[in-house]
Amino acid sequence: MPDDLPLLEVRDLSVSFRSRGRDVPIVENVSFSVDRQEILGIVGESGSGKSVTAMAIMGLIDAPGVKITGSALFRGQELVGLSQRSFRHLRGREISMIFQDPMTAFTPVYTIGWQIDEQIRVHEAISRTGARARTVQLLGDMGVPDPERTANRYPHQLSGGLRQRAMIAMALSCNPSLLIADEPTTALDVTVQAQILDLLRNLRHNYGSSVLLITHDMGVVAETCDRVMVLYSGRVAERGPAEAVFRQPGHPYTGALLDSIPPLTGPRPERLPSIAGAPPPPLERPSGCAFAPRCHYVHESCMILPSLIAYGTQDVACVLPAEGHPLPPRAAGAA
Ligand SMILES: Nc1ncnc2c1ncn2[C@@H]1O[C@H](COP(=O)(O)OP(=O)(O)OP(=O)(O)O)[C@@H](O)[C@H]1O
Ligand SMILES: [Mg+2]
Repeated sequence: MPDDLPLLEVRDLSVSFRSRGRDVPIVENVSFSVDRQEILGIVGESGSGKSVTAMAIMGLIDAPGVKITGSALFRGQELVGLSQRSFRHLRGREISMIFQDPMTAFTPVYTIGWQIDEQIRVHEAISRTGARARTVQLLGDMGVPDPERTANRYPHQLSGGLRQRAMIAMALSCNPSLLIADEPTTALDVTVQAQILDLLRNLRHNYGSSVLLITHDMGVVAETCDRVMVLYSGRVAERGPAEAVFRQPGHPYTGALLDSIPPLTGPRPERLPSIAGAPPPPLERPSGCAFAPRCHYVHESCMILPSLIAYGTQDVACVLPAEGHPLPPRAAGAA
């Protein structure tokens, strides 16, 4: 396929679940793309549909009554409606996913090394010794100390940070072009989190992989991502180059998320401002802008569902910039 096409191009992806006799839209008309060797962040509060979006793309939602519409082209291949058989071929080899809790990726009864060896051997004809050499190399690349010995340990014998590194090693074992990382650092302390983010940032150079990084933390996006998509209540609130979004957020929700990042330098405030209220449950989404009930800038135009409009280098689902009332720009380095 031509190199100028995005690696993943998602258009109008919608996911609904059947509940109490009706289809409840969870993710609505979400569009984004991931370029080669790029890190795209998907950010939003709990329940905004980040995981459902990723799971739909990976063919991992099989709840009864689920409806997935729209398109997700991966290297030109349509993933929406793809058979489980074809997904099995893609997963692990072309697209890998890592989760918040590495214990879900590993079986407790086998060593870490054995499990990574097997993953390699499922996808290619390679000897046991060849697979183990690759496993040790991968663990070493992921910063695991003494990788030969660590490979012979069981998941519960490793610290959380080491398990996370081992899981990324396993996800990379077949050199996928896309790694989907769903909250990969939430359970880790700040120092280990920074090391894992560093690892993800370097994957594009060392492995040529793109990363779709899911997080609720704008600080993580600031440290890692090239572009960002902000989800609110299953819809895109804003998307664009990370740097531009941080400098001049277009959506009040993005601005509020940025305000809740702890400062990198200087004294830490006693309490960070958090956004008052909570996102509406999917069954109770208002017909207009879903953020309106929590928005400082709400006015009557917000009763109509805003569509995405171009705002500088971003796309923003808010009438403020369109009406000539952008949010105030942020001080350089504020995030
Ligand atoms: N199998 C399911 N059936 C019905 N509703 C579901 C199902 N899975 C998820 N949901 C609903 O979809 C919405 C989005 O969930 P999702 O897990 O994608 O959120 P998220 O952004 O990943 O949140 P978090 O930050 O907590 O991980 C939630 O309201 C959730 O209750
Ligand atoms: Mg989630």
